Amino acid sequence: MSDKQGHKHHGKSSKDVLSAETVLEKTGLKVGDTFLDAGCGDGYISIVASSIVGKEGKVHALDVYEESIDKVKKQVQDKGITNIEAKVADLTQKLPLKDNSIDVGVMANVMHGFVAEDEVEEVMNEIRRVIKPEGIFALVEFKKIESVRGPPFEVRISPSDVESILNQYGFEVLETADVSPYHYLVSSIKKD
Ligand SMILES: C[S@@+](CC[C@H](N)C(=O)[O-])C[C@H]1O[C@@H](n2cnc3c(N)ncnc32)[C@H](O)[C@@H]1O
Repeated sequence: MSDKQGHKHHGKSSKDVLSAETVLEKTGLKVGDTFLDAGCGDGYISIVASSIVGKEGKVHALDVYEESIDKVKKQVQDKGITNIEAKVADLTQKLPLKDNSIDVGVMANVMHGFVAEDEVEEVMNEIRRVIKPEGIFALVEFKKIESVRGPPFEVRISPSDVESILNQYGFEVLETADVSPYHYLVSSIKKD
């Protein structure tokens, strides 16, 4: 692993400790919505989102790691899911999504890596471009505590770090909540 990839945690999933249902319930995701799972990993949040949005809705599962996207595509095929589009995409580059096209976006356990690599601006400008006005964007991060699960303590970010990132890019914070023994979530709404 190169230094550049040092905090990217390719292939790691929080599935065993973080409930996708709890995260999605906090975002208010509903039938017919278009959902973005940014840095989806094995796609376990996307799979639950796909059953919430239903056939009138759509889920975009994006990750830079091809093996993860292959895993998502395999599950999509095996389960006969028709509303998930899984694509290899680098969140620091232009995303393969239209302007103002996403009702609800989630980025779980990824942002601390962009903070460590000084890539927040590129990422958040794209997130802002693709989320609809008044759309929801939620960041989930590992709590800034010493724990065996998750990234090293030094690269963990606090709820106030996350809130200030969101505010800086035009998202108004709605709620900061505990969502697992290891994770917190900050939900926000895109404002003009
Ligand atoms: C710790 S995993 C979290 C995966 C999933 N969101 C979860 O909570 O289980 C971080 C994910 O972010 C992805 N990632 C890191 N940098 C990325 C980038 N620049 N663009 C897209 N995905 C990225 C990694 O490949 C990895 O799948």
